[in-house]
Amino acid sequence: MKKKIDICLSPELFPFYNSDKKSCVVVVDIFRATTSMCVAFHSGVKSIIPMADIEKAKELKEQGFLVGAERNVARCDFADFGNSPFDYMDEKIGGREIVMTTTNGTQAIEVASANDMLIIGSFANFSTVLSYLQTINNDVIILCAGWNGRVNVEDTLFAAALTESLLGTGEYIAESDAVFVALLMWQDAKNDIRGFLMKSEHISRLLAHGLQDDIDFCLQFDTVDSLPFYDKTTARLKLMAGGEE
Ligand code: MLT
Repeated sequence: MKKKIDICLSPELFPFYNSDKKSCVVVVDIFRATTSMCVAFHSGVKSIIPMADIEKAKELKEQGFLVGAERNVARCDFADFGNSPFDYMDEKIGGREIVMTTTNGTQAIEVASANDMLIIGSFANFSTVLSYLQTINNDVIILCAGWNGRVNVEDTLFAAALTESLLGTGEYIAESDAVFVALLMWQDAKNDIRGFLMKSEHISRLLAHGLQDDIDFCLQFDTVDSLPFYDKTTARLKLMAGGEE
C-alpha cells in the first residue's frame, strides 16, 4: 500500500490533520530555525531543548544553559546566540545541551510534539530527510512553520520539493489541495528559488536586518547530513544516527 503525503501550510491548521498521531511530521522553518537546528547538530550539539515560551528560555539561561533566542528576526538580548545558522557553527556548542526559542519554528515543534514521530527538515539536510522517510512505513505530513500562523512561501517550496521527490519514488500518493497548490508553485520556483522568493515577506525582513548571507545559506541543498528528531520522553531534539533513533 502506498504511503500518503500531505502538507500543512501553517501550525494553526495542524489540529485538522493529525487524527492518529502516527504520521511522521517533518517540521520546516527554512528561514531560519530548522536550518539552524540542522547546522547545530552538524556542529556536534548533544541536544536542543525547543521552547515556544521565551520566559522559560530565560529561566534556563539563568540556570546555566546556553540559549539561542530570536524574536522578529533579532537576537534576544539575554541570549548567547540568535537564529542565524552561522551562530551554530560555533565550536563551543559541541557536546552541549542548548535551548532554542524562535518566533515560529519552535512553536511549530510544540504544536506537533504529541506526535509519535517528528523530524526536522530544511534544504540543508534535504537528501537526508528524503532517504530517511523511505526507510519507514509511515505517512508523511510536512508542517510549515509559516509566520505568526500565516502561510509563507519558503516553507511551502521546501514542502513541495520534498513531496515531488517522494512521489518520484513511486511509494507515495498525495491528493490534497495543499499539495496541489504547493506543487504548482514549485514548478515556477524550482529553477531559481532565490529569484522566486524576492517578493516574499520574510526575505524582506531578513534583508532589512542585513542577513543576505543567511538567506543564501538557508537556500542551499545538502550542506549537512544531520537529522534531528524530537524525543517525546525528554522533550528534546536529538540526532538520529544511521536512520535509527
Ligand atoms: C522563526 O522561527 O520564525 C524564524 O526562524 C525567524 C527568523 O529568525 O528568521
